[in-house]
Amino acid sequence: MTDAGSYKFGTFKKNAEELERLKMQATVAIDIEKEVWRTTGLQPGMKVLDLACGPGFISCELARMVGDGSVNGVDISEKLIAVAHQAKASEKVENVSFSTGNVYELALPENSFDFVYARFLFQHLEKPQLALRNILRVLKPGGVLCVLDIDDNWTSFAPESGAFVKFIRKAGAGQKRKGGNRLIGSQLFGLLNEAGFKNVSTKIRPITTEDLGVRMFLGVAVLFRMEMLNKLQKLLALPQLKKIKTAAQAPNAWGSVGIFVTTGRKA
Ligand SMILES: C[S@@+](CC[C@H](N)C(=O)[O-])C[C@H]1O[C@@H](n2cnc3c(N)ncnc32)[C@H](O)[C@@H]1O
Repeated sequence: MTDAGSYKFGTFKKNAEELERLKMQATVAIDIEKEVWRTTGLQPGMKVLDLACGPGFISCELARMVGDGSVNGVDISEKLIAVAHQAKASEKVENVSFSTGNVYELALPENSFDFVYARFLFQHLEKPQLALRNILRVLKPGGVLCVLDIDDNWTSFAPESGAFVKFIRKAGAGQKRKGGNRLIGSQLFGLLNEAGFKNVSTKIRPITTEDLGVRMFLGVAVLFRMEMLNKLQKLLALPQLKKIKTAAQAPNAWGSVGIFVTTGRKA
């Protein structure tokens, strides 16, 4: 097991496809996400850390939001940081910078950020408490941590398909074996409180097929999860995927996923 837990870019069967998935996941619900930023306290002028920024698409959006503030994007993957530099150039955003770094040993000055954003990081971490201690150190007093993540208990699809439920469970077990945790969403409240954050709160924002369309919804729900299965499990999952696709063609197919937004403040 490495410090990257259950997410190791470069090891995916189709890395280019995974990059596309990250881009799609960063753009499809961006207006909803911006609303989340506003309600959790992100303001112009702030100094922001986008922790585990991946390919940097979201860091560039955050940079636009903070105006004369700034965003530091940090990620353990050199390959993704290289993509993030390209994103900065093509998006023509000046107030964002990127560097490689590990959430378990953050080489950043203490008391230096107003807002730390961790988007789909914690589901991959074996040692969330160590990560939270490091975040607390780099936040300014009064600064806010905002964690956005998922919880598989809050994923559903109709018409009810045993195949969908089985597939989600198998992938969740696969991610656990790699050091991840697909049920992290509902555990974040306790984790932040135990770590010493104040005013901790968890809200759930549903994203449904009405927001994304059925095809996009299933793309986001299925692609990454396939990577959590071993070779044999991938083969065994094929008939389940076929059943899921069939269910998705029903005239009133509808699905939802709960996005957990947990915030906490440094005293
Ligand atoms: C699902 S991706 C999310 C990327 C980005 N936040 C987004 O939402 O598009 C998870 C990210 O966590 C990063 N990561 C995993 N473990 C890490 C660690 N210990 N320190 C820093 N980054 C880590 C991975 O390299 C990957 O970019």
